[in-house]
Amino acid sequence: MSNIILDVFNDQISDKVPIWFMRQAGRYLPEYKKIRSMNKDFISFCLNSKDSMEVTMQPIRRFDFDAAIIFSDILLINYASGQKVHFEENIGPILQKMEKEKFFKITKEELKSKLTNCYSSISNVRKALNNKKALIGFAGSPWTLLTYALNLKSPKNGINLNYKKSEIIKILNKFTDLISWHCIEQINNGADVIQLFDSWAGIIKDEDFEEYCQIPNYKIIKSIKEKHPLTPIICFPRNIKSKINSFIKNVKPDGISIDYNIDLQNLIYDKNIVYQGGMRPDLLTMDKEYHMIKEAEKYLNFFKKKKYIFNLGHGILPETRIENVLKLVNFVRNYN
Ligand code: CP3
Repeated sequence: MSNIILDVFNDQISDKVPIWFMRQAGRYLPEYKKIRSMNKDFISFCLNSKDSMEVTMQPIRRFDFDAAIIFSDILLINYASGQKVHFEENIGPILQKMEKEKFFKITKEELKSKLTNCYSSISNVRKALNNKKALIGFAGSPWTLLTYALNLKSPKNGINLNYKKSEIIKILNKFTDLISWHCIEQINNGADVIQLFDSWAGIIKDEDFEEYCQIPNYKIIKSIKEKHPLTPIICFPRNIKSKINSFIKNVKPDGISIDYNIDLQNLIYDKNIVYQGGMRPDLLTMDKEYHMIKEAEKYLNFFKKKKYIFNLGHGILPETRIENVLKLVNFVRNYN
């Protein structure tokens, strides 16, 4: 099976730049909101394989993106390891206290049985997608899942971790196993690329960066590759600024997704790696397209004739205008 996303990972650069968007299924689409309104509980929505398949396909039908990303959430692993999660409107995820005894005992079989509907959704989407599209499976990285597990909500207003480093490492190691199992199972069911979201890597202190970010991501890549050596893995360590160069050198992912704070001039370009993303998602909410197109051009010019997948520097926003998505996709498709 081949598609233009897998081709880039196999060193085949065509004139056509592949494109998909993080959070491409979601609240900016009326057809998503309709199905969302019928599913009060977000976790059950993710685990409803019929609805999850439908919302995965919605952006593909509308925009003909080169990849579908399975509709799910990084917090399904927290949920499957025994921590209740619910989502409050305008606040985000709220988690119940972590029961560590239970957490450390979760087995691969228990995780798989809790998430079995996610895997059947992946295999159904794979059958429904034509062969020209990639299917992206994903997971949160250990540090990011730990921040939610211990902070019990988004750490956007800061996080105060009153834990010994040895305790943090023990939790990170368990998450590393859970995440590796989950990714391998997604590939077994038809995902052909994996993306690891380390959304809160940017709040790690410099002195902990290697142990809390680089080593856990490296270990996950290693375990996935033992079972699936050919499946490309993209890392998205968000907001790590100039530490991106160290991350690439030490973690050696197949692909790196960059956020909009990455300074392209200071990026040490590595020809072995596929680059993805970069552009500010708020530009898609504006009523004039000038800045959006200029910014898209900046990334397309910088990565011209290089291994690059067009994407945003973070997830698409709920306020995004659909006509902007159409214009942007059209611009990228016709760029050369
Ligand atoms: O990209 C896709 O379309 C696939 C699905 C996907 C979702 N979440 C669905 C979702 C993916 C890849 C994610 C990843 C995710 N989830 C991350 C990493 C990426 C990032 O944004 O940094 C994180 C941190 C989460 C945790 C999470 N899930 C939060 C903080 C929230 C609430 C706030 C928000 O950003 O929407 C969610 C809910 C969520 N996950 C929604 C969707 C479509 C919105 C739910 C709704 O409809 O109300």
